Amino acid sequence: MQLQVSDQTCLTWAGDGLVIGVPEGFVPFEGDLANLNTQVSGLLQELIDEAEFTGKEGATAMIRVGQSGPVRKLGLVGLGPDHGITFDTLRRAAAAAARLAKREKCSSLGLSLPVLSANPALTVQAVAEGVLLALHQDTRFKSEDREAGKVKLDRVDLLAMAHQQASLATAEAICSGVILARELVSAPANMVTPEFLAQTALEIGTASGLEVEILDRDQCEALGMGAYLGVARASDLPPKFIHLTYRPASPATRKLAIVGKGLTFDSGGLNIKGSGSGIEMMKVDMAGAAATLGAAQAIGQLKPAVEVHFITAVTENMISGKALRPGDILTASNGKTIEVNNTDAEGRLTLADALVFAEKLGVDAIVDLATLTGACIVALGDDIAGLFTDNDELAGAIIQAATVAGEQFWRLPMEDRYFDGLKSIVADMKNTGPRAAGSITAALFLKQFVQQTPWVHLDVAGPVWTEKESGYNNAGGTGFGVRTLVEWVLTG
Ligand code: BES
Ligand code: MN
Ligand code: ZN
Repeated sequence: MQLQVSDQTCLTWAGDGLVIGVPEGFVPFEGDLANLNTQVSGLLQELIDEAEFTGKEGATAMIRVGQSGPVRKLGLVGLGPDHGITFDTLRRAAAAAARLAKREKCSSLGLSLPVLSANPALTVQAVAEGVLLALHQDTRFKSEDREAGKVKLDRVDLLAMAHQQASLATAEAICSGVILARELVSAPANMVTPEFLAQTALEIGTASGLEVEILDRDQCEALGMGAYLGVARASDLPPKFIHLTYRPASPATRKLAIVGKGLTFDSGGLNIKGSGSGIEMMKVDMAGAAATLGAAQAIGQLKPAVEVHFITAVTENMISGKALRPGDILTASNGKTIEVNNTDAEGRLTLADALVFAEKLGVDAIVDLATLTGACIVALGDDIAGLFTDNDELAGAIIQAATVAGEQFWRLPMEDRYFDGLKSIVADMKNTGPRAAGSITAALFLKQFVQQTPWVHLDVAGPVWTEKESGYNNAGGTGFGVRTLVEWVLTG
C-alpha cells in the first residue's frame, strides 16, 4: 500500500473512494462540501439523509456516485463535536476511513480531514498513523490467506496536505516500531523466546546502526544480577540481557534509557497461576520489551540528537527442580537482598537488575514499561496505563508526549508509607506486599533500584492487548507505549 500526501482537494481528486471527515453540525453544507454536493448532483445530501448521518464520532457512510465521474464512491466519517477534536480523533477517523474503503472494495482512497491546531505536520502524522495501524493485519499464524482474490486498497492520498512528506516519513518510522511491537506481543511464547528477542535486537541494530550488547547468563552473573537470574533459573531457555544503544552523529542533547519488562512467558513459577488467572495470555508479559524494541527501531530510523539506551532483561518464569522457591532470598546487582515471598511477582525482580544497569550508564532519565500488575488493570481498566514517579517534570513530559501520541496514562501515587507492606524479617525487602495497592507497592519495590536518576515507571498490563478491533487497533497486541516513547525522545 502506497501512502502519500497530495495537493489535490476533495473537489479535484480522482480515484476510487473519496472519504471526507466532518464534525457534528456540518449541515447545511458550506464551502467545499456545498460545491462537492453540487458536483455529485446532490448525492452527498442523499447519503446523509439515507444513512441518518450526523457526524457522530466514529460513524461512517458511503454511497456510489457512478462510473463516469472522477470518483466511484463517496464516503463520510464523523469527527464528533467540533470542540472535542484532538489528534487522536483524527487518528481514529483515518482508521475508520481506511476500514470503510477496504470494506467497500475501493482500490484507492482519497482522504480529506481538517488540519488541527493550524499544525499540518502533526495532522498528517496522526492521520498517516491511523491509516497504517488500522490496515496492519497480522496473518502470520493463519494457514489460509483470507484476503486472496479481494480488491486491495493499494493507494491512500491525504488530500490538501502538500509539503508534508517529512511528517509522513515520521509516521512510517513510528508505525514500523508499533507494528514490530504488536507482532512480538501477538506471537506465542514458543516463537518469541529470549533468544528470538536477542536476534530481533541484533537485526534492529544492524538495520539502523545501533550498538548491540547481549549479555548471557555468565556475564549477568559477573555483574551480580541475582534477582534477574533467580527468575531465569527454572527455564530451559537461556536468559538474554539486551542493551541497544542509539548514538546520534551530532553531540547528544540528552541521554535517556528505556527499560522494558521482558518475560516471554510468565507461568507464575511455583506460585503458579491458577485457573482464571489468564495464564494462557502470559505471552504478553514481554510487551514492555516489545515496546522498547519497537521504539529502538523507530528512533534508529528517525535519528534524533538524543542518546538512547534500550534495555531489557529477557527470560521466562517457569517451574522445574531448579526453580526459585517461595521464601528464597536473592541479591540484586546493587547489593540489596530480596525475600521472594511470591514467585509470580517476577517482573520486578528482572527490572531491579535492569534498572541498576540503566542507572550505571549515567543517563538523564529512565523510563520503564512493564506488564507488572493485574492490580493496575483492576484500577484503570484495559485502555489506560498507570504512571508512577516522584519527578513532576518527568511525569509532565511523559503525559504531554502521550497526549500527542494518543495513548492514555494516569498518574498514581508513590506513597512511601506503603513500603511497610514490603518489610521482610530476614532480608532488605520482600518482593510482594498485601493485596491492597498492589500496583503502588510494585512501583515502590522498583524504586529501591534507582538511586538518583529521574525515573518513571509505566504499568502497561492493561492496554498492550485487545480482544476486539477498536479505532486503529486490531485484535491482538496493540504496540502500546511505542508512540509515547518516540514522541518523548523526539520532543520531551
Ligand atoms: N505478568 C503479571 C501481571 C499481568 C497480569 C500482566 C495480567 C498482564 C495481565 C505479573 O508478573 C504478575 O503475575 N503479577 C502479580 C503480582 C502479585 C503476585 C503481587 C499479579 O498481578 O497478580
Ligand atoms: Mn507474574
Ligand atoms: Zn509477569
